Amino acid sequence: HTLPWLAPPPWAWDAITEMDEYNRPIHTYQVCNVMEPNQNNWLRTNWISRDAAQKIYVEMKFTLRDCNSIPWVLGTCKETFNLYYLESDESHGIKFKPNQYSKIDTIAADESFTQMDLGDRILKLNTEVREVGPINRKGFFLAFQDIGACIALVSVRVYYKKCPFTVRNLAMFPDTIPRVDSSSLVEVRGSCVKSAEERDTPKLYCGADGDWLVPLGRCICSVGYEEVDGSCHACRSGFYKAFAGNIKCSKCPPHSQTFVEATSVCQCEKGYFRAEKDPATMACTRPPSAPRNVIFNINETALMLEWSPPSDTGGRKDLTYSVICKKCGSDASQCEICGGGIRFIPRHTGLINSSVTVLDFVSHVNYTFEIEAMNGVSELSFSPKQFTAITITTDQDAPSLIGMVRKDWASQNSIALSWQDPDFPNGAILDYEIKYYEKEQEQLSYSSTRSKAPSVIVTGLKPATKYIFHIRARTATGYSGYSQKFEFETGDETSDMAAEQGQILVIATAAVGGFTLLVILTLFFLITGSKNNISGFSVRFPGTKTYIDPDTYEDPSLAVHEFAKEIDPSRIRIERVIGAGEFGEVCSGRLKTPGKREIPVAIKTLKGGYVDRQRRDFLREASIMGQFDHPNIIRLEGVVTKSKPVMIVVEYMENGSLDSFLRKHDGHFTVIQLVGMLRGIASGMKYLSDMGYVHRDLAARNILVNSNLMCKVSDFGLSRVLEDDPEAAYTTSGGKIPIRWTAPEAIAYRKFSSASDTWSYGIVMWEVMSYGERPYWEMSNQDVILSIEEGYRLPAPMGCPASLHQLMLHCWQKERNHRPKFTDIVSFLDKLIRNPSSLHTLVEDVLVMPDSPGEVPEYPFFVSVSDWLDSIKMGQYKNNFMAAGYTTMDLVSRMSIDEIRRIGVVLIGHQRRIVSSLQTLRLHMMHIQEKGFHV
Ligand code: ADE
Repeated sequence: HTLPWLAPPPWAWDAITEMDEYNRPIHTYQVCNVMEPNQNNWLRTNWISRDAAQKIYVEMKFTLRDCNSIPWVLGTCKETFNLYYLESDESHGIKFKPNQYSKIDTIAADESFTQMDLGDRILKLNTEVREVGPINRKGFFLAFQDIGACIALVSVRVYYKKCPFTVRNLAMFPDTIPRVDSSSLVEVRGSCVKSAEERDTPKLYCGADGDWLVPLGRCICSVGYEEVDGSCHACRSGFYKAFAGNIKCSKCPPHSQTFVEATSVCQCEKGYFRAEKDPATMACTRPPSAPRNVIFNINETALMLEWSPPSDTGGRKDLTYSVICKKCGSDASQCEICGGGIRFIPRHTGLINSSVTVLDFVSHVNYTFEIEAMNGVSELSFSPKQFTAITITTDQDAPSLIGMVRKDWASQNSIALSWQDPDFPNGAILDYEIKYYEKEQEQLSYSSTRSKAPSVIVTGLKPATKYIFHIRARTATGYSGYSQKFEFETGDETSDMAAEQGQILVIATAAVGGFTLLVILTLFFLITGSKNNISGFSVRFPGTKTYIDPDTYEDPSLAVHEFAKEIDPSRIRIERVIGAGEFGEVCSGRLKTPGKREIPVAIKTLKGGYVDRQRRDFLREASIMGQFDHPNIIRLEGVVTKSKPVMIVVEYMENGSLDSFLRKHDGHFTVIQLVGMLRGIASGMKYLSDMGYVHRDLAARNILVNSNLMCKVSDFGLSRVLEDDPEAAYTTSGGKIPIRWTAPEAIAYRKFSSASDTWSYGIVMWEVMSYGERPYWEMSNQDVILSIEEGYRLPAPMGCPASLHQLMLHCWQKERNHRPKFTDIVSFLDKLIRNPSSLHTLVEDVLVMPDSPGEVPEYPFFVSVSDWLDSIKMGQYKNNFMAAGYTTMDLVSRMSIDEIRRIGVVLIGHQRRIVSSLQTLRLHMMHIQEKGFHV
């Protein structure tokens, strides 16, 4: 500010220029009237404009002489001065009246100097800052009052603080003056930079010290623009951005282009289209080519048309077919549409499968069927339709049956077959279909293979196993019927030797060794088998009790007595009927054992009029149960087989089956009680799996609960169990399976194992935590299978601790070897029970993501969105995620199902797979954050 300042009285404050220690001039105001008492010397600045300030800061640099270092000044020398101010709208013509000024503070030196310092030319400079405010007038004066000190005022800096203009998250924030009250912040709304739009209202808070705090909300670059260094730049030609978001422009999808900047949707190349619902991120597509290889199969009443999908689907998956029927005379140009007489099953347009059945046609007519493939963009194309036509005269026959099938040779794993062509092929034979299955597994599954020649080598078979084969021929007219069944057996090791005779000596020697081993093993089992009356065998390892399948006994009624005590019926008192089983009533009653107290029991009865097979199936359960001895497995007391009715007597479980028990007491138990029940079931299952027993029908309905809430696994009996289970449904391979409880590999190819029991255990966990809710609610079995295949998993029931849902998800891993073992489950649940605080985090708590932008959750599993999408086989959506701005796992983790849809994930199954994977990711994060348990 302009000098000079006003300094009354004129003999006191002096403007003096000195040299500092570096010999640079410094302008100062000095006063040093230390000898005379009652000093009152003022120095007043010129008028200072307030500008935007509310609060001002005054920084003073000065030196001050130590009074002790000056002789004879005791009582007159001072070591402080006073700082005053006066607010004023007027800058000029103000007379200086000290009593109008308000005191800001008394200023003392931190360091004063002595004569010696002066001699050494050391300047002991003090810096003091004082704040004043609020200032309400246009400006102010400052005044320094000396009361007898020796001062040199070297500099006075007057300033105020502001939060300076800034750009954060693509929003601009203007210069902002903080509040005078330093504890409250000024909320400032940002405005988006050019070509950006608000996502959440952008805000910053201006703190008292001029710092911007707590950024909230953000702007995002509009469609066609991408962020570069805090501003939005137009996409270059050839690039586009379909969604507003802070992401980069992407290259135009295949078969589309753009030649202008700032493109939001690239235009399709000629001949390519985008259907109405196709997202901009999707490639442009075209109509499919014509279907191929049309064949037919006709009898008197039905004509079946079948074809292969087109070689070019146009790049789309929404393929459908339509069939047009024409009746043609001898001249192919004289065709007319067939009209209403003919029927198509299921219909003639919008066919999803590549086949259709035609009914109500007339004999001896030339029908031409034009089969067209269509997709979502067929309607948009003006090019001529691509179809394949087949003309059929309605009295043509399929080939006749194949006659004799011969086995040429067999090895351990292969069988070679040959046969004669059918006597009446009725056209050129295109190929043969060979269908085969293990004789013992007739109902369960079959395989098939094809051969163009009338011979085949079927490989991948089991050694020494009987297989059934039947074969049919195919011509353009369709298939012949299947030949009669032929039974052939694969060879054992000796036959392989025979089959491979003449091969090198080493192999022969090994085979001899193998044969020797076989002889030794056979002898061993003949001896042990005859002792135990077993024709099959199980190898017992020392220290491990192994479950023995009662069906390996030649006479299953012997098995039951091996494992179950015979009870004299006079010891049983039946009291009440408590239910109905497949074989007869289930009753409750009492069992008296001599010398012991009567115990309550449940009694399963076999009703009269049964056949041998039913009796055997009924008693199979007792033969299995009798092998077990564990507190969480229902205990067999014994059987009645020597009189009628035949009965199985087991311990009585007061609370009946677990599913109905939970439904009856919805919400009544603590989480620890529920975990206790689950622990019991897991412990029982661990015992069963250690014994090598696979339950196959583990479900809450097959768990019984006693009066102490102890849960015990029940319902044993392999296939019989499934016959009995109302939940079991037939699968395409013919087996009867409780779909909702069963692991995918067991549904698909009957791969039952302790690992598939683990899957079912996960479902039981879900049943328990939801108090007996039906798994997958009212979804159809078919939908359950499909959605599991798509990666969907049951979400956590309400109020379910996150750690338990995580365990369920572990049990439902597709790869069965990745599922936990029951021993792991038991120890995990034990840890939860010992440390109940680990049950306090509910899934609901975890799924709400932190929304304060400062918190960045950690993703240890997937570094990039691209890796994650690949891992869930959703890699085809990488562009959609990138184009919509979901470039980091952090952003992805906050996505809602709506956002997933909005970026172009249209298929429900894919949406589910993504949502369920995100759910798992969030759980993993929670898990890591809590440093909790690991299974
Ligand atoms: N229902 C079937 N078995 C039972 C048992 N052991 N106790 C009670 N009810 C049952």
